[in-house]
Amino acid sequence: MNDTVLRAIRTRRVVRVLTPEPVDHRQLTAVLDSARYAPHAGNRRLHRYVAVTRPPLLRALRMVSPGMLQHPTAAIVVCVDWPQVRSYGFPPANPGPYIDVGTAAATLLLAAHGIGLGAGPVTSFSRAAVATLLNLADGVRPELIVCLGHPAAEQLPPVRRRGGPAWEDLIQWERG
Ligand SMILES: Cc1cc2nc3c(=O)[nH]c(=O)nc-3n(C[C@H](O)[C@H](O)[C@H](O)COP(=O)(O)O)c2cc1C
Repeated sequence: MNDTVLRAIRTRRVVRVLTPEPVDHRQLTAVLDSARYAPHAGNRRLHRYVAVTRPPLLRALRMVSPGMLQHPTAAIVVCVDWPQVRSYGFPPANPGPYIDVGTAAATLLLAAHGIGLGAGPVTSFSRAAVATLLNLADGVRPELIVCLGHPAAEQLPPVRRRGGPAWEDLIQWERG
């Protein structure tokens, strides 16, 4: 059994201590490119990805993002284009666009991990402030930020490592 992908899934961790070394442009574009391979509800592409690399803008993002504990040298802001969501006839309560934020984030995180970058998702930030900082079009809402950088040798102690539940604790087999 070739378990390359399984191993990548098992070894990915949120990286919150990053070096000041910038992320190479080719690495950043490789991660950005991965997003289009994520599964999307109805195969609609309702998300926009804003790449941020300029240090003053990254600092400004941090200032409006209490959940951004790391100092990223690049960031990808995953946004939902809500006017497009409506134009495709998605009912307002349909969770598809938000689920797609998750599939995109998981894909971006794994892609970054796969090429040796450190990455971490952040959802604790001011949507309004980030939309203003990024000069987003009306109705395009930032929903999640993937922070990127080179992992420092020393990391913060993990929130959980081995003490987490066993997979059997999270699974219910079908009942016949
Ligand atoms: C939807 C979502 C939102 C998150 N928001 C934040 C955040 O704002 N700040 C942060 O440091 N980590 C955030 N995380 C990362 C989680 O804390 C992290 O995935 C969890 O502790 C497990 O760690 P691991 O991914 O290294 O196994 C978020 C994760 C998800 C899925």
